[in-house]
Amino acid sequence: MLHRTLGTTGPQVSALGLGCMGMSALYGDADRTESIATIHAALDAGVTLLDTGDFYAMGHNEMLIGEALRSAPAGAREQALTSVKFGALRDPDGGWSGYDGRPAAVKNFAAYSLQRLGLDHIDVYRIARVDPDVPIEETVGAIAELVEAGHVRHIGLSEAGADTIRRAAAVAPIADLQIEYSLISRGIEEQILPACRELGIGITAYGVLSRGLISGHFTRDRQLAANDFRGMSPRFQGENLQRNLDLVDALRKVAEDRGASVAQTAIAWVLSRGEDIVPLVGARRRDRLTEALGALDVRLGADDLAAIEEAVPAGAAAGDRYPAEQMAHLDSEH
Ligand SMILES: NC(=O)c1ccc[n+]([C@@H]2O[C@H](COP(=O)([O-])OP(=O)(O)OC[C@H]3O[C@@H](n4cnc5c(N)ncnc54)[C@H](OP(=O)(O)O)[C@@H]3O)[C@@H](O)[C@H]2O)c1
Repeated sequence: MLHRTLGTTGPQVSALGLGCMGMSALYGDADRTESIATIHAALDAGVTLLDTGDFYAMGHNEMLIGEALRSAPAGAREQALTSVKFGALRDPDGGWSGYDGRPAAVKNFAAYSLQRLGLDHIDVYRIARVDPDVPIEETVGAIAELVEAGHVRHIGLSEAGADTIRRAAAVAPIADLQIEYSLISRGIEEQILPACRELGIGITAYGVLSRGLISGHFTRDRQLAANDFRGMSPRFQGENLQRNLDLVDALRKVAEDRGASVAQTAIAWVLSRGEDIVPLVGARRRDRLTEALGALDVRLGADDLAAIEEAVPAGAAAGDRYPAEQMAHLDSEH
């Protein structure tokens, strides 16, 4: 397994992390047994970074990870690092009611997460979306106190814009920014990525397959369950979906010429953007995980990158990456 370090102050982690969200929420129903087998297979392959959020099915995802860690071989369990997001407020019907970054809330969220994970510390802790009503200094300051007390090892950010990143980094060392980054979501390249590089902050990139859209497995006629985020994501709607899948068809030709799958090519492209970037892959089945790990063997030279750029030029995606009301919560887009 290749390794990368999260920023100048963060931990060394496997070059690919496993995002566990889809094992509990947002992409329709998942298979619990297969999810745990996928986490075990990832650990066995040397993946050390497991990403979750306390709000992924209201604690379900953390409990799933806790169960997988308890039943994993001791060596693998000790190597595993958890990256946890908090702050999103839910209701019993699964609704979303904003974000809470107040210091007391941060510590409350952490207390519950540690219990659900069955761990005595969280490796990287971050608010999922910047709370517009609480200065980031206060939220990050509360995590810094959790670090001081030994409950958290490192501080991260999620979907924060350059100004917020600078303010946060002035309070305490920030290991990484978790943010969407893929062939069809390159918004960070202009300001956010340079700011992170200047400050020694790593990137954990999510949505590197654009939630499956550019995985090569998403078909034009796929029916999505009512509880699947993609059913309301602009990029998966009507004409947008057809145009985005045309890009995937172009990428497929490039991938096939190089003996790689579409998903492997898309993940390898993110890996090629810099040693400071760790893609999180959202595999929830062992076969998908195996495919994703194969990206580590795909080396993209200048000709390959040029061919990929021609197939999927920057800004080519049709539709925003979130519905309008969720775009409004993204500090990174302001
Ligand atoms: N900070 C944030 O705001 C934020 C937001 C979203 C996610 N995240 C984190 O980032 C992680 C990754 O995000 P994501 O799940 O949207 O990413 P993704 O890797 O772009 O998409 C994952 C989906 O792609 C499909 N897929 C097809 N082939 C695959 C392959 N070979 N390997 C992996 N997936 C394949 C799967 O859908 P099917 O199973 O339906 O085929 C899977 O559910 C999440 O698990 C979560 O931990 C963070």
